[in-house]
Amino acid sequence: MNVKIYKDANAIGIAAASIFAGQVIAKPDSVLGLATGSSPIPTYSRLIEWYKNGTLDFSKVTTFNLDEYIGLGHDHPQSYYYFMQENLFHGINVPADKIHVPCGTAEDIDGEGKHYDEMIAQAGGIDVQILGIGNNGHIAFNEPCDEFPMGTHKVALTQSTIDANTRFFESSDEVPRYAISMGIGSIMKARQIILVATGSAKAQAVHDMVKGPVTPQCPASVLQLHPNVTIFADEAAAALL
Ligand code: GLP
Repeated sequence: MNVKIYKDANAIGIAAASIFAGQVIAKPDSVLGLATGSSPIPTYSRLIEWYKNGTLDFSKVTTFNLDEYIGLGHDHPQSYYYFMQENLFHGINVPADKIHVPCGTAEDIDGEGKHYDEMIAQAGGIDVQILGIGNNGHIAFNEPCDEFPMGTHKVALTQSTIDANTRFFESSDEVPRYAISMGIGSIMKARQIILVATGSAKAQAVHDMVKGPVTPQCPASVLQLHPNVTIFADEAAAALL
């Protein structure tokens, strides 16, 4: 596990976007794994900038997002599909049919999960996956639990995650209680993983991910076992390392 410490979120955005840029330049038909949350936003801003100035071309790229709230459709402003349109896809040229976000309104969520994992496999697997980390050590929506979930599956959100994500909704009552999320197995299959963490609220989770035991009680700790992981942290998030 490679840990790199930067002065702020903007510097991290440049560094993380450079990994994606190198990947897409080297392999124009790359499969990129994408995340929501505030952490990847500076990375996405740089990718938009580099597309607009002609450096990058995403026309052959395929993307898979990590997760989605159950019950929120594409046009709900807090859905992760909507987030991705607003923060990345509106500004780059990934073809619409190559963009994948788990469907939170599918009638058969288990079937949707299986289908999602099959689509990733058919696309050849994920070349580079970006992750954020929850205050409780979750990655995607894999919450602390007793065993690592394998494939894309339905998750009951913990109170800690509901509290953390209430800031995006009018009130806590409006935060969905369930999500569909890539599993730890799906994430660990990515050939390269970059994880972005900023701010002091992430310091304990970053410590437990890097220095703690590998345990599903801190889902991100499993990344210690992946051969190609880089953590991009600012000084506040890395304070306990
Ligand atoms: C959500 C997402 C995660 C994300 C986490 C942290 O729960 N499902 O993928 O990593 O929030 O978000 P932020 O980057 O805003 O701190």
